[in-house]
Amino acid sequence: MAIDPYYAPTPGGDIAFTVEAPTLKFGVGAIKELGEDAKALGMSRVALYTDPRVAKLEHVARARASLEAAGLDVAVYDEVEVEPTDRSFKAAAAFAVEGKFDGFVSVGGGSTMDTTKAANLYATYPADLFAYVSAPLGEARPVPGPLRPHIACPTTFGTASETTAIAVFDILEQEMKTAIAQRPLRPTLGIVDPAGLMTLPVQVVAANGFDVFSHAIESLTARPFTRRKAPETPALRPLFQGANPYGDIASLEAIKLVGANIETAVKRPEDLAAREALAFSGMLAGIGFGNTGCHVPHAMSYAVAGLVKDYRPEGWPDDHAMVPHGTSVILNAPAAFRFTGPACPERHLKAAAALGAEVRNLPLERAGEALADQVISLMRATGMPNGLRGVGYGEGDIEALTERTLPTRRLLDICPREVGRDDLRRLFKDAMSYW
Ligand SMILES: NC(=O)c1ccc[n+]([C@@H]2O[C@H](COP(=O)([O-])OP(=O)(O)OC[C@H]3O[C@@H](n4cnc5c(N)ncnc54)[C@H](O)[C@@H]3O)[C@@H](O)[C@H]2O)c1
Ligand SMILES: [Fe+2]
Repeated sequence: MAIDPYYAPTPGGDIAFTVEAPTLKFGVGAIKELGEDAKALGMSRVALYTDPRVAKLEHVARARASLEAAGLDVAVYDEVEVEPTDRSFKAAAAFAVEGKFDGFVSVGGGSTMDTTKAANLYATYPADLFAYVSAPLGEARPVPGPLRPHIACPTTFGTASETTAIAVFDILEQEMKTAIAQRPLRPTLGIVDPAGLMTLPVQVVAANGFDVFSHAIESLTARPFTRRKAPETPALRPLFQGANPYGDIASLEAIKLVGANIETAVKRPEDLAAREALAFSGMLAGIGFGNTGCHVPHAMSYAVAGLVKDYRPEGWPDDHAMVPHGTSVILNAPAAFRFTGPACPERHLKAAAALGAEVRNLPLERAGEALADQVISLMRATGMPNGLRGVGYGEGDIEALTERTLPTRRLLDICPREVGRDDLRRLFKDAMSYW
């Protein structure tokens, strides 16, 4: 591909990439149009999913009022678990089965949108929870057909679950996260209304900002789609295809926007313009990584979140220990970028420059380190924990963390260089503390 030498054809490698995203609506106040949008999609009896905290916010009241004004029958499920689990996915699906709904609306963060995707899936095509889960933990059975319409209305901006075909959850017994990642899970419409972010606690803003950074940087530095084996038929082209020129544009813009706005959004919570920029950056990165895929920082994060001991972060509900998603990702990111730097140094330098680093005279050998330094300085400026030690891990946990990361092949395979067991051990060691 002449666009960029990174996409030079390889023998047997893929020859094309696809760009898939739902219809997306973006703008302050856009939630008011939810009812008309739901009606246009043929909904009449709607399940509105949210979590107990978001349920009390004005954004949910606006969503509900808009649905009712359009004459729709609305049943609210406000028991979504933050950082959902196999147990909470099942409970949410049971509500969907009982209610016989013809449409789904989610108002909340990634936890709520992912839970709604799962509820819609298991109500439409009932099966054991692990039937549609990615291998090797699940059977990876293909979802048999389209789901019922789902309008996702994010009140966070990091996961961009409104754009993606993924639903992430924690398997309680195995102490690790996994995902259902199949095209039919992608919502029908995303309504991104930045006004919904105004009540988001600053700690959640910081964690979400780092989730966006990592989605964007991991997409930009992913293995190119041309180096993945071509599928036997177009239908077998994977959801996560590897880096591609469209993903690059979305990722670079997202990195710049988060870099320029994250500190303001954390320090001045009343600044709507900063939150609007973050909402847009999250959506943009979502379209990018939703087609490209993430690699090492996200792969490691599933173990970091799953094995949590007693970390209870300020800004989240304190009813259970958790390492929030964005935090569990960024704590690994500097170590991961030091490791991936040599595989595509120009791209690491591009990301560092988009984050505001001066890279003109930097030798390529320093690319991974330069990007790691830039991420670390933003972590310090926004009050992130100092590496994995900061959320309760120590050297004695490296083996368990490594074991739980190895099954996430879906992510590790997109890394621009091979990652084995010993590499992961070293990465977790390096991620223990940064300053
Ligand atoms: N589907 C995907 O593509 C994808 C990608 C990355 C991560 N995830 C998953 O998404 C989940 C994390 O989602 P998240 O970071 O968006 O947050 P979240 O849904 O877990 O919410 C975080 C906290 O913020 C609160 N909250 C949300 N919106 C608020 C608002 N506007 N005002 C006040 N409080 C608000 C919630 O009640 C909760 O306490 C994790 O389970 C993660 O694994 C999914
Ligand atoms: Fe993420």
